[in-house]
Amino acid sequence: MEKINKKRAAITAVAHYVPDKVLTNFDLEKMVDTTDEWIVTRTGIRERRILEKGASSDMAVEAIKKLLKIRNISAEEIEIIIVATVTPDMLFPPTATIVQRKVGAKNAWGFDMEAACSGFLYALLTGAQFIESGNYKKVLVVGTDKMSSITDYTDRNNCILFGDAAGAVLLEPSEDENLGILDHIFYCDGTGEEFLHMKAGGSLNPPTHETVDKKWHYIYQDGKSVFKVAVIGMADVSEEILKKNNLTGDDIDYFVPHQANLRIIDAAAKRLGIDYSKVMINIDKYGNTTAATIPLCLSEWWQAGKLKKGNTLVLASFGAGYTWGSILLKWAY
Ligand code: UT7
Repeated sequence: MEKINKKRAAITAVAHYVPDKVLTNFDLEKMVDTTDEWIVTRTGIRERRILEKGASSDMAVEAIKKLLKIRNISAEEIEIIIVATVTPDMLFPPTATIVQRKVGAKNAWGFDMEAACSGFLYALLTGAQFIESGNYKKVLVVGTDKMSSITDYTDRNNCILFGDAAGAVLLEPSEDENLGILDHIFYCDGTGEEFLHMKAGGSLNPPTHETVDKKWHYIYQDGKSVFKVAVIGMADVSEEILKKNNLTGDDIDYFVPHQANLRIIDAAAKRLGIDYSKVMINIDKYGNTTAATIPLCLSEWWQAGKLKKGNTLVLASFGAGYTWGSILLKWAY
């Protein structure tokens, strides 16, 4: 394969899709023993979106169609599609291939990446490697999750937390060496499996009547245990990437945290000493959309005209696995 010049990878377009149906805390009050006040105080969530018809690929496709319009390119120009999701349409084929067909990205190859709530960041870094190798010029990275498909709406511990959404970014070689993805720090710790998982549906517990009766096809989370490590993990890794690059909170234009719980976001923002106006937060409207939270924030802020070329951003996530990490980038468009 002929090499083009090695370049930094930059996000050159962003878009998102959220389904129309809104599930509010007041709706949930009628479904399980909970209150709007409890949910808002403990999580910061007021409502979330639910995809009534279709699958994760359909939300990804809607986000991608908007992105192609924004960047004014055709689907045929896309070379790779990476889909981060914990709710693939099916266990196989890869959702990326379903997306490739539906958007008509005839010249692209693609694959899925499953790293739970860190899926988008892991996929973003993976996509960046293809650009930096010099061999690719247009890589789509999508985070899409239909969390409602694995949520038990009789379990008040979990059903209040999750929502459905998709977000997509395009990665291209940066025109300016100073703009784009600058650095990353990633971790994983497999001891987290015990506290956050979905037991059935995979090769360990193939679905049977018994696994369904036991509700093993739904998210299991020991919220309290995950909360403690998430607060420390996301704050630590965000602080670490600043220190590694000789930056302080004042040097950052936006902190873009995974949206799992407002209290986790607050703790990380406090540790960075970053002004609250510079923290992207939309958990109140969408809850935890897993792989979609970070591109959904980026897209909303970009649409509102608040993201500017040259802005310095720290993206950070923590999720099942455990998987966690941060990415430092300079916004390129
Ligand atoms: O994105 C992947 C990573 N995931 C996370 O980062 C999530 C981390 N965890 C959390 O965000 C929080 O732990 C939760 C929001 C899940 C729970 O908040 P908490 O402050 O840790 O509450 P808790 O689990 O300690 O529960 C406190 C009480 C319990 O009652 P008792 O035992 O004190 O009588 C729960 O049964 O609140 C009760 N409770 C509820 N009450 C009303 C639990 N869920 C609800 C509810 N409504 N929906």
